[in-house]
Amino acid sequence: MAKPFSGNVFDKNQDESRQGEAYTLDLPAAPGLKKMYLESYGCQMNFSDSEIVASIMAENGYVPTPSLEEADVVFINTCSIRDNAEQKVRGRLQEFRQYKKSKPDMVVGVLGCMAERLKSKLLEQEKLVDLVVGPDAYKDLPNLLEQVDTGQKAVNVLLSREETYADITPVRLGGNGVLAFVTIMRGCDNMCSFCVVPFTRGRERSRDAQSIVEECRDLFEKGYKEVTLLGQNVDSYHWTSADGTSTVNFAQLLELVAQISPDMRVRFSTSHPKDITDEVLMTMAAYNNICKNIHLPVQSGNSEVLARMNRTYTREWYIERVNAIRKILPDCSITTDIIAGFCGETEEQHAETLDMIRFAEYTFAFMFKYSERPGTLAARKYTDDIPEEVKSRRLQEIISLQNEMSLKSNEADLGKVFEVLVEGPSRKSELHYCGRNSQNKMIVFPKGDVKKGDYRKVKVTHCTQATLIGELVEED
Ligand code: 5AD
Ligand code: SF4
Repeated sequence: MAKPFSGNVFDKNQDESRQGEAYTLDLPAAPGLKKMYLESYGCQMNFSDSEIVASIMAENGYVPTPSLEEADVVFINTCSIRDNAEQKVRGRLQEFRQYKKSKPDMVVGVLGCMAERLKSKLLEQEKLVDLVVGPDAYKDLPNLLEQVDTGQKAVNVLLSREETYADITPVRLGGNGVLAFVTIMRGCDNMCSFCVVPFTRGRERSRDAQSIVEECRDLFEKGYKEVTLLGQNVDSYHWTSADGTSTVNFAQLLELVAQISPDMRVRFSTSHPKDITDEVLMTMAAYNNICKNIHLPVQSGNSEVLARMNRTYTREWYIERVNAIRKILPDCSITTDIIAGFCGETEEQHAETLDMIRFAEYTFAFMFKYSERPGTLAARKYTDDIPEEVKSRRLQEIISLQNEMSLKSNEADLGKVFEVLVEGPSRKSELHYCGRNSQNKMIVFPKGDVKKGDYRKVKVTHCTQATLIGELVEED
């Protein structure tokens, strides 16, 4: 069985905590309707795509089910970012085999990045798969399912230059009714040499600004209190109206969303160090409800490695951007992604990454060992020459240092009072609730009289490296 949705899943490591999450919706039994089981892996964008898939399927008479046994259609929305992400999916497909044995009519579909990367090869490699659908082809799902009904296998992995699913209202599943994720752009044009995303998600395109603002407003009217605007590189968001008379850049979009209500928080992810502008930082400074956290993946602290990674910025440039954030947004936290053991990385270059962790004082980081992806620029140009044990040791050094930095940053918050958006019961105890401050740090506190969706002041009294622990402050 897939891990059931457990409520507070955004606090630590988004990558790990939601993997394999099955979408569920509390629905009364609906005789006659077909049932879809949908399991998701990978980044937040993929989870948002699953909500689009659920919406398209609902239009076509499918209700989501948390039970594989009951499902008529089983979808697995996949990730290709590192080899272990793909291996996890392959393992899961093996487990689906037994269900299909006892229910041969059950349709198994692979969606997302692995579908796009492997295309019809997946049908040959994984015999139980009936359907392979890439991230830009979800509107074709009903046709493809009809094709499968006639006994054929079906594949649609066409990438699009236009598809943004702006006209689809995602079915909000598995969430807590307080936080929602809104995709503002798709694809990526950056071609970082290690990354498979430009191949699996295609060219960058921005979604109609008006449709984004309307979706966010609608969420607020339904009781949501926080939206996270999602894109591979939100800073290059750029939308031009059909008649060409008006344009909206990311700073302007942020402002439009922030203006919906001061009671709705706005977050965004991911920023690219080469593109994040002072205009974005100033807009963040101007609105209290734009949360003061920037996810600014550094990948490496060394300029030569960054050049091989094709990140198009240097160590000095990154440092300048961190300094600009500190100047314009003194209370802003910075989080990051780091890759250990990229092709040709020397001990000195690795040491510069450690040094960057100390300098930037990240409050949190996603840290990975380099995993070569077939077809990427790095796979074609460079040798994956860092031995596994060296990669592991470097990653461990990065993790240990980051843990120290996270603890230090949390200790600096002891005694401070933060406004927290209450997300619900904490993972460990019903008697404790949790919510995050503007800096995206999770704070756990005794429940008192709070309810999910409240904004409350909490004073930090203790901390661990991962969490702040506090108590409610009575408000006058
Ligand atoms: N190997 C390891 N980590 C990778 N990432 C992307 N591609 C790879 C790879 N081939 C990491 C980067 C990126 C995050 C989403 O995943 O740090 O920012
Ligand atoms: Fe991959 Fe780079 Fe695009 Fe991020 S910005 S999705 S790391 S190519």
